[in-house]
Amino acid sequence: MKELLENINEKFGTPAYVYFEEEIEKRINKMWNIFKDINLTPTFAVKANNNPNILKLLNKYDFGADIVTIGEYKAAELAGIPKEKIVWNGNGKSKEEIQFLNKKIKYVNIDSFEEMRFWQENNNEEIEFFLRVNPDINAKTHPHISTGLKKNKFGIPIHMVEKVLKNFPDKRIKGLHFHIGSQITEIEPFVKTFEIAKQFSEKYNFRKINIGGGWGINYVGKELDLDKYKKKVIPLLKRYDEVILELGRFIIAPAGILLLKVVQIKETENKTFIVTNGGMNDLIRPALYNSYHEPVFLNPTENKKLADIVGPLCESGDKLVWDKILPIPELNSLIYLKNSGAYGYSMSNNYNSALKPAEILVTKNHETKLIRKRESYDDLYKNIIIDG
Ligand code: LLP
Repeated sequence: MKELLENINEKFGTPAYVYFEEEIEKRINKMWNIFKDINLTPTFAVKANNNPNILKLLNKYDFGADIVTIGEYKAAELAGIPKEKIVWNGNGKSKEEIQFLNKKIKYVNIDSFEEMRFWQENNNEEIEFFLRVNPDINAKTHPHISTGLKKNKFGIPIHMVEKVLKNFPDKRIKGLHFHIGSQITEIEPFVKTFEIAKQFSEKYNFRKINIGGGWGINYVGKELDLDKYKKKVIPLLKRYDEVILELGRFIIAPAGILLLKVVQIKETENKTFIVTNGGMNDLIRPALYNSYHEPVFLNPTENKKLADIVGPLCESGDKLVWDKILPIPELNSLIYLKNSGAYGYSMSNNYNSALKPAEILVTKNHETKLIRKRESYDDLYKNIIIDG
């Protein structure tokens, strides 16, 4: 691993996201193992990672795409994902987007009574609608990524499902959709959700269901127990003719790292700051959700101190890891942050006019492929119109 990453640094520079096909495949196999007896339509949540090369790879393993915007659709299109495998999610689908996308996708998750009205002007018979239900269940995850509580903006409140069905006797409605949050590590919220789903689906005779995503991975020693999922959730899904899944994080987070170079070591009375060439513009999850991405030092020293790993940007929130006893590395040595494959690059930004990082794929036969160039300064200012 060390040599591989040093080579990547030499060839492509840092900061860089590096993804490992082998790990992606392992995770996909784990997933298939759980759904053995189910007629599953797996899709990948493009919001977690929008690199078309990753989507293309996933498509080889039968994954379609779950998209929210036309931008995400374009990534799926570049990856060659067929329309039959595309699900469109979102709580703000505009009439213009509906016009553009309706013939390019198969499944639509309807977020509200009001959205259903928009679709009445559309007579595309090939679409399949799923009503996104807000079951008011606590997913016990970070408040920013919980979606199934009634205070959250998503879904049709459960008591309104009947009203939607009565007002819109639309044959295209094939079932319900549930996605109560992301990074869920407990089984109980899933069990509760799919018990409710079963009740409602029986009542309205729905033969299909979309079960969303949300499987929690191991950032800090806790993850969703898949054996339990198989035992307790799968039986609740056996009655359906088709189960659509929208996984993001589980598939790609542990298969990606963010590779960084140490550019400064700053000693203070309180602690040591390990400054890297990447920061919150590359990986915003620590700053935004307080999330922990375990650092790995390629050349660890014996010199351990209380330290933060920070970026070079101009705000104190620009930190990646904090208040840990860490081996203080040499200048120019490499560090990587684990579990960065999901919501890493896709949430990166240009704060401080920093350039977005490169993305590299390590294939199963250990080839390293550049799958997205580092941004250039020309890219950064390409939309500027100099006035006068
Ligand atoms: N389906 C729907 C309708 C979603 O809203 C999401 C994620 C997924 C599927 C995929 O969920 P996953 O399997 O990845 O948990 N930026 C946050 C995560 C936001 C998730 C938004 N929705 C983060 O960095 O943790």
